[in-house]
Order: sequence, then C-alpha cells, then structure tokens
Amino acid sequence: MVIVAILAAGRGTRMKSNLPKVLHSLGGRSLIERVIDSIKPLSPTQQMVIVGYQAQEVKAAMHSIPDLEFVEQTVQLGTGHAIQQLLPHLEGYTGDLLVLYGDVPLLRTETLKNLLQTHAQHQNAATILTAHLDNPKGYGRVFCNSDNIVQQIIEDRDCTPTQKQNNRINAGIYCFRWQDLAKVLPHLQANNSQKEYYLTDAVSSLEPVMAVDLEDNQEILGINDRLQLATAYEILQKRVKEKWMTAGVTLIDPASITIDDTVEIAPDVIIEPQTHLRGNTVIQTGSRIGPGSLIENSQIGESVTLLYSVVINSIVQAGTSVGPYTHLRGQAEVGALCRVGNFVELKNTKLGDRTNVAHLSYLGDTTTGHKVNIGAGTITANYDGVKKHPTSIGAHTKTGANSVLVAPLTLGNNVYVAAGSTVTEDVPDDCLVIARARQVVKPDWRNKSTESPKSTES
Ligand code: UD1
Ligand code: CA
Repeated sequence: MVIVAILAAGRGTRMKSNLPKVLHSLGGRSLIERVIDSIKPLSPTQQMVIVGYQAQEVKAAMHSIPDLEFVEQTVQLGTGHAIQQLLPHLEGYTGDLLVLYGDVPLLRTETLKNLLQTHAQHQNAATILTAHLDNPKGYGRVFCNSDNIVQQIIEDRDCTPTQKQNNRINAGIYCFRWQDLAKVLPHLQANNSQKEYYLTDAVSSLEPVMAVDLEDNQEILGINDRLQLATAYEILQKRVKEKWMTAGVTLIDPASITIDDTVEIAPDVIIEPQTHLRGNTVIQTGSRIGPGSLIENSQIGESVTLLYSVVINSIVQAGTSVGPYTHLRGQAEVGALCRVGNFVELKNTKLGDRTNVAHLSYLGDTTTGHKVNIGAGTITANYDGVKKHPTSIGAHTKTGANSVLVAPLTLGNNVYVAAGSTVTEDVPDDCLVIARARQVVKPDWRNKSTESPKSTES
C-alpha cells in the first residue's frame, strides 16, 4: 500500500513568472500533471499535493484531476517541514509514503516501480533514489557503506571540501515506511546553513535506508528556470521520436518535427519536416503528413495525405487528401477518399465519402452526402449574428463557383446550384437552382453614356 506526496510548495523564483512553477507546460501537460500521470500505474491509495506558494492558483488549475488531496504548507521551512504537514492527515497509516517533487517531470514509472520493489524486498525503513553525476554541485551527497546502506545525506552547502568529492547525489525521490518516518519527523532540527528542516536528516535516524541508482540520469532533471524547461523538452522529444522511429515511422528531418508523447502513430507513416503533432492525435498506417502541418487532438485514417494544413479536434478518413492550406476544426469529419483543398476551412462539418471541396470554401455546421462536389468559393452563411444554423447537402449534389448557401438550408440529392447563386430556400432532389439576378445586356450603352456632358474618362 502506497500513498504519494508531491512537494509543490516552493516559490520557483528563477522561472521569473506569474504562473506557479509546477503549472508551466512541458509538451502539452504541466510539470505536475506529468508527475501525477507517472504515478497512475502504481495505483496509490492517496495522492497528496503539498502546496504553499500560490496555493490557490495551483489548486484551481488542478481541480479537474481526480483523487488529489491538497495539504497546505503556509510557510516553506524546508522539505522536512513540508512532509511534517502530512502528520495530522496520515495518523494510523501503516503503509509506505512515496515522496516526489512537482518540478521533476521526467521520472519514468518503471524507475518508481523499481524503487518500490527494492523497498519492499529488503523491508527497508527508507529507500532513496541516487545518481552518480559528473557535476554534483547543488545536490545533497549520499554516503553509503558497501552494501548501498545509506549512513548520511549532507547538503552541498553543508559539505566539507572532501565530502564534496563524493559524486553520488540524492535525487530527492524516496520511499519511506510511514510509521518509522512519522516517529522521526517531529524531532527534525533546523541547525544547518539554510535554517531549514531537512527531510534528508530523517535518514540518519531510520534503519535500514538503502540507495538505488538511477539508470538514466536525465530522469531527475528538476525544472528551476526556462533553460531547464527547454532541456526537458528536448529530452522528451528525443525519447518520443526514437520510440516512433523504432516502431516503423519515418521522420524526415526529425529536428524540425515536434511530437507530444500522447500521440499515437502507426508503422509506415511518413512525417515530413516542420510538422507538429499534439494532444490525443492518432495517425493510421500509410499516411503522409506534412511538410508544414499542425495536427492536434485529431484522428487521421489510413493513407491520408496532408500538406501544409492545420487540423484541430477533427477526423479525416482513409484515402483522403487534405491541403495545401486547409483548416479543419470544431469536430470536422471528412469521409473516405475525399479531396479538401486549397484555402478551405471546415468547421463542425461532416463530408460524406468521395466528396470534394477543392478550392476557397468555408463550410460551417454542414453535413453532406457522398460524392458531393463543392464548387470553388462556395460559402455557407451559417451565422446570423446571434445563432449558428445548419446546412444539409444531399448526395451527388454540385454547387457552382461562388455559391452562397444561407443557413438553415437543405439541398436535396442531385441538386445543381448555378454559379454565383445565393440560395436562401430549400431545394428538393434533382433540381437546378439559379438564385441570382438575370443578366441584363444593354446594347449601345457606351455610345449613349458618352453623350453626357463631362466624361470621367481620362
Ligand atoms: C533537495 C534535497 C537534496 C537533493 C535535491 C534534489 C533536502 C534538504 N535536500 O534539495 O538533498 O539533492 O533536493 O533536487 O531535501 N519544497 C516544498 N516546501 C519547502 C521546501 C521545498 O514544498 O518548504 C519543495 C520545492 O517546491 C521543490 C522540492 O521541495 O519542489 C525541493 O526543494 P528544494 O528547496 O529545491 O530542495 P533542494 O535544495 O533542491
Ligand atoms: Ca531544487
């Protein structure tokens, strides 16, 4: 049984931001959301977030995440003091406490599982995550005997020059047997250079405490400033791209591509340069995406081509070609084998299979049947200034160039709309509709008009 405590009360001054540090976004999710997501597979019995600085903002931003409990540390007197705040909440609890930081977002679930496993296997009072760093400056140093049993952790600033030579550092991630820790916590002293209550001091009074080395030191990167935020993003991108290339996805010029770690891509997809895949996007096999495209929270079927386009919250079915310069948004759904082309925007619009909207159109709140041809420059007037209205277009219907379809409107199947029409009334199946002024040709117009006294011609 494990309860997780996430420390997130610190100030994060070096971010130079009005936004609390743990709420800064890293590849589509905040730092602290990433930490919470990493512990989900451990099925913790409770998840306690220790908040202090800008506590209200942090809580408000996280209100939609289920099963979190917030504990306030109103003054920040150190990591030991932060954990002391749990004492009244965990009275009588007999399981383990996993301590994480809200600003260390790259830890893998596997690493945490490994820590918990060692902890259980050796029945440790505490198990701590350690790393050997080339540059250990700033970190607490961990002093162990030959069996990885920890004797002491000394903060960098409290180390003697000789102690500083030790490059085994405390990652700040621990698993404690709570009952043992709870006994020690009230006795922590703040007699150190920072006058803080150090959680690391508890270690000296617990037995046995074991150190577990990290396999990948990048996982414990803490985010204190924007440079580290960018470094973390690079690390994430590298992880994600390597994963998909290994799984059979071609990335052309990977350095110019960004892919959120929430995206799913099938083998034999080709991602061209300057393409960005975000959120819960799924791309099926055989599709070619980019160059120059952005896809967010969208489903792309098999063998789709998508060129210089933006697709947000939408679906594109198999074999369809999108772009260049198409914008799909607001739950647009493009059927199979369609062609949506140059300078076309579809919003909350559903196209039947084999439908073409090839040039310069806006369709909003529209549904079409299959094999519809939307002529160049066709526009749905779906908004009357107050409400949005729907347009329905039957199968095999063709709109002429520059048609305006004034919603609410229903065009039947096999309807022909004459070019330049402004259609305001429903049209039944199989009709031709012409809704424009009849052409008038006035003979000899020039001769008559030039009789006027002053010509403006020059
Ligand atoms: C801590 C460890 C150090 C370790 C390092 C790893 C201690 C005394 N030292 O040092 O051994 O190498 O982490 O990064 O624990 N926090 C609170 N409330 C507080 C103080 C801190 O919530 O009163 C939170 C901070 O927001 C931060 C985390 O705890 O997320 C770490 O605090 P910080 O002061 O940065 O500890 P370090 O000096 O880095
Ligand atoms: Ca720190």
